[in-house]
Amino acid sequence: MEEKTNVLEVRDLSVSYTVANVKTHVLENVNFSVEKGKSVGIVGESGCGKTTTMRAILNVLPSNGTVESGEILYNGENILNMPNNKLQDYRQKGAGMIFQDPSSALNPVISIRNQFLEALKYAHKDKKLTKAQLLEKAAKALEQVSLADPDRILNSYPFQLSGGMRQRVCIAITLAAERQILLADEPGTALDVTIQDQILRLIKSLVEAGELSVIMVTHSLGVIRQVTTAVNIMYAGTIVEGGDTKEVFGHPMHPYTQALMDCLPKLTGNGIAKGIPGRIPDYSSPPGGCRFAPRCPYVTDRCLNEKPVPHETGGGHWTSCFKAEEGR
Ligand SMILES: Nc1ncnc2c1ncn2[C@@H]1O[C@H](COP(=O)(O)OP(=O)(O)OP(=O)(O)O)[C@@H](O)[C@H]1O
Ligand SMILES: [Mg+2]
Repeated sequence: MEEKTNVLEVRDLSVSYTVANVKTHVLENVNFSVEKGKSVGIVGESGCGKTTTMRAILNVLPSNGTVESGEILYNGENILNMPNNKLQDYRQKGAGMIFQDPSSALNPVISIRNQFLEALKYAHKDKKLTKAQLLEKAAKALEQVSLADPDRILNSYPFQLSGGMRQRVCIAITLAAERQILLADEPGTALDVTIQDQILRLIKSLVEAGELSVIMVTHSLGVIRQVTTAVNIMYAGTIVEGGDTKEVFGHPMHPYTQALMDCLPKLTGNGIAKGIPGRIPDYSSPPGGCRFAPRCPYVTDRCLNEKPVPHETGGGHWTSCFKAEEGR
């Protein structure tokens, strides 16, 4: 059997934010892993904690955010207690991120050439490459993301490029720096649909070519189906179900996942659907048991008082739900 290697493992991650002395417990015991050379999705409605998870993985939580507990293992090492030089290494050579809003990712006053050089100088510092060799890597990566005329791109400033081109540049920097993981937080949602589709195809082809592992964060079940091989369903800061994408879509086990599948393929910021009354709980006093219990049509006393733990049903497909576990 083929050996599975996880480049990244998130274990029991809990994250809170503090605003005006009130603590909100946003992420609770988040668990998932990213296999080398695979793409994994995180899907859930607005405010469920997707971006918080991505920021925690890059170790760039806002200053009022705190990791309460848990581990984030990169090639087996916990980034949450890495010494600074190793953490710098991880950020420059381990994981890169593309953001929903492409304008926030590149420094507006530095030319694309110099942004590449900054990133690549660090990422390839052990190889002692010349500037010309680094620029050659940059040009090659720009071609890989289908940006023809690399010279023109390298001479540009971010404002001279379209949103889609800027996202391609971010992906190209990740590739040229030979980073292992791309964190894609709703890539392309700020762009028009054809450009978004091109970016998704590009990411998919890079994964298939074995260039990258990807964590794809989105509201859209369609994007998950198109791009990922494994998926995690997130509800109110918890992952309620995970597994092979086809398997989870074909046999959803958690009542939240089932409701999602019955809804529109694309979720909006207005909550999930007519199908599921209620909304995401208040994170300053989240439900004591299952976080979905207040909205769940199958709720029992146990669900209100006890937290369900992940329960595997075979083939790596798991869910945290008493109903699924008890076979009700
Ligand atoms: N810096 C912060 N300070 C306080 N609360 C925050 C902060 N950032 C996020 N939150 C809260 O944490 C929760 C999760 O937010 P997050 O941005 O992770 O959700 P998301 O799933 O990415 O949502 P969206 O799909 O809208 O991007 C929300 O209730 C949000 O208001
Ligand atoms: Mg977000």
